[in-house]
Amino acid sequence: MSMKRIAVLTSGGDAPGMNPAIRAVVRMAAANNIEVVGIERGYQGLIEADFHPLRIRDIGGILGRGGTMLQSARTEEFKTDAGRRRAIHNLNKAAIDGLIIIGGNGTHQGAHLLSQMGFPIVTIPSTIDNDLCYTDFTLGVYTTLNTVLDAIDKIRDTASSHQRAFLIETMGRNSGYLALMAGIAGGAEVILIPEAPMTPEEVLEAIQTQYALGKPHSIILVAEGYKPGTMAVYNYLHEREKEIGFTVRMTILGHIQRGGRPTAHERILATRFGVAAVEHLIAGNCGVMVGIMENKIQTTELSKVVSCHKGADLEMYKLAQMLEFGHGKFAANGHPALNLKTHWPRFATGD
Ligand code: F6P
Repeated sequence: MSMKRIAVLTSGGDAPGMNPAIRAVVRMAAANNIEVVGIERGYQGLIEADFHPLRIRDIGGILGRGGTMLQSARTEEFKTDAGRRRAIHNLNKAAIDGLIIIGGNGTHQGAHLLSQMGFPIVTIPSTIDNDLCYTDFTLGVYTTLNTVLDAIDKIRDTASSHQRAFLIETMGRNSGYLALMAGIAGGAEVILIPEAPMTPEEVLEAIQTQYALGKPHSIILVAEGYKPGTMAVYNYLHEREKEIGFTVRMTILGHIQRGGRPTAHERILATRFGVAAVEHLIAGNCGVMVGIMENKIQTTELSKVVSCHKGADLEMYKLAQMLEFGHGKFAANGHPALNLKTHWPRFATGD
């Protein structure tokens, strides 16, 4: 089917990179004489036919802006058959030939269902959680990691001045990716993720070890999906401050992680994704997500994307543990949360 008019929407949690992706879609479409329609507030706007033309002049200045100029929403109505039928009706009525959907996990579930109803769809993965399979990175991750890193560096300054243990909670929903990668980049002393949870008792032990080693502070990065949760660990440590040697504080970074100017890397990735999405719609390769694997843009069927969950990479977790506990008390066996003796034979010999 030849594409004369396509639409684009952003849905779910916003992420830095959505705007540069919208810009790339509009520019690539214009280069192929295709009109673009912007849909406001994600699936909600799709159901309500909140459409408007999106021309080159409308996207001026958005390349460096965080958030999404099309706004976003999480919509219960789209989960119903009636809601999706209404969406298809509105798309057909507006003579839209294809749809580009930018969003994360929940958004992809919706995109898959819509695509199953026969509408030509290509999606762009965008979530600060980086929890979608078949892409090494989702839009937003690069920028958010830098935001978290900046917070860690600042908190370390004050933690060190006051000899404190600081819990820093990141977003990430059920994935420990953000906490793990920011923890590695920021040199955190302990990283707590849902994929390899340490108990509060083990955290206490780890901090005591670091105190005994003469560390002036302890930074504990916690993913929001970690159980029993940041507050539980805080309470446990707070009650034992004398034992630990450090006083304890906690910072929940919250939605600051979703804002900010997309980094250079983010803008480039968003541009590649946006261009590729239009290319695949034109080529009729629909019902797919564009992704990046080994620095190549690839597409994967939505049915595969939605039946897969990506958590934090446990190899990277082992690496983080080696960096944290490669000396001192846990050097021989690693931390109890992962048996480094098995995974890192060097620890067994003490080389
Ligand atoms: O999925 C992105 C995300 O920022 C998660 O990390 C977080 O759990 C959630 O969205 C927060 O959602 P809301 O915008 O509804 O507060």
